[in-house]
Amino acid sequence: MPARPVIGLADSTLQSIDWNENRQPSSMAAPSNNNKELPMPACFHNPVTIVFGGGSLDQIAEHCPGKVALVTFPEAAQLGLLATVRSLLGERLVCVIDNVQPNPDVAWLRGVHEAFWAQHGDCDTVLALGGGSAIDTAKALIVGTASGRFDELLDLLASGKPFVPPRHKTLVAAPTTAGTGSEVTPWATLWDAGQQKKYSLHLPCTWPSVALIDPQLMLSVPAAVTVSTGLDALSHALESIWNHNANPLSDTFALSAIEDILDCLPRLQQDLGNPELRARMALAALKAGLAFSNTKTALAHSISYEMTLRHGLPHGIACSFTLPLVLGLAWGRDAGRDQTLQKAFGHNLAAAQQRLRAFLHRLGVRTEFEDYGVTAAEAEAMIDAALQGARGRNFIGAQAA
Ligand SMILES: NC(=O)c1ccc[n+]([C@@H]2O[C@H](COP(=O)([O-])OP(=O)(O)OC[C@H]3O[C@@H](n4cnc5c(N)ncnc54)[C@H](O)[C@@H]3O)[C@@H](O)[C@H]2O)c1
Ligand SMILES: [Zn+2]
Repeated sequence: MPARPVIGLADSTLQSIDWNENRQPSSMAAPSNNNKELPMPACFHNPVTIVFGGGSLDQIAEHCPGKVALVTFPEAAQLGLLATVRSLLGERLVCVIDNVQPNPDVAWLRGVHEAFWAQHGDCDTVLALGGGSAIDTAKALIVGTASGRFDELLDLLASGKPFVPPRHKTLVAAPTTAGTGSEVTPWATLWDAGQQKKYSLHLPCTWPSVALIDPQLMLSVPAAVTVSTGLDALSHALESIWNHNANPLSDTFALSAIEDILDCLPRLQQDLGNPELRARMALAALKAGLAFSNTKTALAHSISYEMTLRHGLPHGIACSFTLPLVLGLAWGRDAGRDQTLQKAFGHNLAAAQQRLRAFLHRLGVRTEFEDYGVTAAEAEAMIDAALQGARGRNFIGAQAA
């Protein structure tokens, strides 16, 4: 009697097969004992409808139901974007907030939020047109409170307990920078410079319903913002890989984003008006956004919040200057994660770190804490604290570090 082949199916299935008849049911794959090497089942969820390509903004009328409030950045008017939105939405555009500054701060958001709900409570949709600051502002605006007070929302966020907002609006996001991925994530960072802290907002309703990604809108982004936002996207991709929540789907988006950014960003820095490079970076930022929409960020972002609050670094610089260092902390923690990192950077850690460092230097970004006035002892304390933070705990090196 031939030995029974070992296959990776439940015993009950095996028992129903008569191997002595020397045949295999046609529905079965060839016998294999490789089940242990197969990836664990992974779930990828992202509910955002994505429209990508030049002219996507023209579709706002069909994707923004009812009365619309626009949240945008100060330069939008002179760039002609305000006029475009007005002509596309007509009388349905009932409110314009166009003074969003980088890193939306609760001191400013408080008045804007309360006035919005008092004066435009009947508005249906908030359209965010801008960088991450405009999109995150819009995410805060769409969440109403029972009292109408903004501090009620902050208290709920500070408590860390889950809550269901009593009212909310639909969010549509049209990014004008290629970086944050906020158009395909539910997260918003609300800053409190006065108290030197930040709040993280994320609710089922803060997923945008639609992301309209129009690379044409990014042609006017200045060089420094192009670089910092592009590096934010690189950081999102890497943070999704050295992450306890990584899976083969997030890895696929992340690796593709890394490849594009390493190739494109230095060229785009020298050729800001190149539509093809703008489109490739827009797509790369989207892929990185999709990757971390399912994993969240990790140690580099956890460190970045301190560097933005205490040292004033733009978000994209704050979360990317440590990437070579964090790569070293991630390497060797987990064979599967190493494999993915090595697909992007090869098998030699020192060479991989050097490649990342040289990439950042070429873009004009310094890569050491001391370059930003942080001593070695302060840096060590900052990294220790960052590892304890919510994002830091996603990092694969968190327990052992
Ligand atoms: N929610 C998320 O998942 C997420 C992820 C990363 C970062 N963020 C947040 O996003 C914010 C940073 O966003 P950002 O990096 O996109 O920058 P930003 O939105 O702060 O914009 C940077 C500057 O560029 C200007 N600008 C934007 N678009 C322009 C355009 N098309 N032409 C000319 N100027 C333009 C803005 O007015 C601003 O002065 C931070 O507050 C950060 O916390 C959020
Ligand atoms: Zn980021």
